[in-house]
Amino acid sequence: PVASPTVTVLPKAELHLHIEGTLEPEMVFELARRNDVALPYRDIDDLRARYRFADLQSFLDIYYANMAVLRTTRDFHDLAAAYLRRCPEQGVRHAEIFFDPQAHLARGVPMSAVVEGLSGAIGEFPEVSAKLILCFLRDQSADSAEETLRRAEPHLDDIVGVGLDSAEIGHPPSKFATVFAAARKLGLEPVAHAGEEGPPAYVREALDVLGVRRVDHGIRAMEDPDLVARLRRERVPLTVCPLSNVRLGCVPDIAHHPLPAMLAEGLNVSVHSDDPAYFGGYVTANLAALRLSEDQLRLLAANSFESSFVTAQARERYL
Ligand code: ADE
Ligand code: ZN
Repeated sequence: PVASPTVTVLPKAELHLHIEGTLEPEMVFELARRNDVALPYRDIDDLRARYRFADLQSFLDIYYANMAVLRTTRDFHDLAAAYLRRCPEQGVRHAEIFFDPQAHLARGVPMSAVVEGLSGAIGEFPEVSAKLILCFLRDQSADSAEETLRRAEPHLDDIVGVGLDSAEIGHPPSKFATVFAAARKLGLEPVAHAGEEGPPAYVREALDVLGVRRVDHGIRAMEDPDLVARLRRERVPLTVCPLSNVRLGCVPDIAHHPLPAMLAEGLNVSVHSDDPAYFGGYVTANLAALRLSEDQLRLLAANSFESSFVTAQARERYL
């Protein structure tokens, strides 16, 4: 579908975007050349042809593999700058951006290169207020998450929150109770992916055990009427990514996406792009795919600011 003027022009906050998921195939090849990293793909078309995913894990395998090209402060800077350059055309005025440091530390990239590269780029784009959210990889150990938080402590001026991502099933939020408590004590805002592939019980745990301020995805909460009632009552923000859900087989097709039903239930949902380089588009493409009314689009945009960590007072400046 063609994006209507409302879709593109409406000011929005992007709250569910993995910066590594904005690594476009062209940049994979450019950085591979620059860093002398051998790629197992013939060319850009060959790489793109592999972006057909059966489930979350099959996506994560190629998402982590492509990160091999990210080595230096400059690489992380260029990755973030390429994303931030697109924000005006997407109507994105504010972005709370996930990054996955454990995946980079494992290749010997220092935390400082990751955070300083990303925040250096953020400083160069005053037209979008951008913040960083450090995500723990839930398929790694709780000890590894705690070590990662310790390594991030010198950089907390550049980080607003902590998140939880990667392979969900078998890795419930409760596994990370200790590190989230420590992060909250440091003044970091807690969020977590839950109810993407995992059951509604993981959404409850994210709220009750991790104390999250937002739930990322949360679509499977719709299977549990009591949970839906609670999410409505407590106005829990849910950051929903329609193209991701379709491409990872979490929903059968866009016509069966639960976003309209979530809106009809009165939930505080907003629409975001997750890993746009892999799933077919940035936030306006996600909004356009749903074929919503102008009123629904306005509500989603308003929710995106309400659910952000921008204070109510400061929000007016974005609208
Ligand atoms: N990391 C990047 N994208 C993700 C997703 N959709 N779910 C879980 N972890 C992720
Ligand atoms: Zn995500």
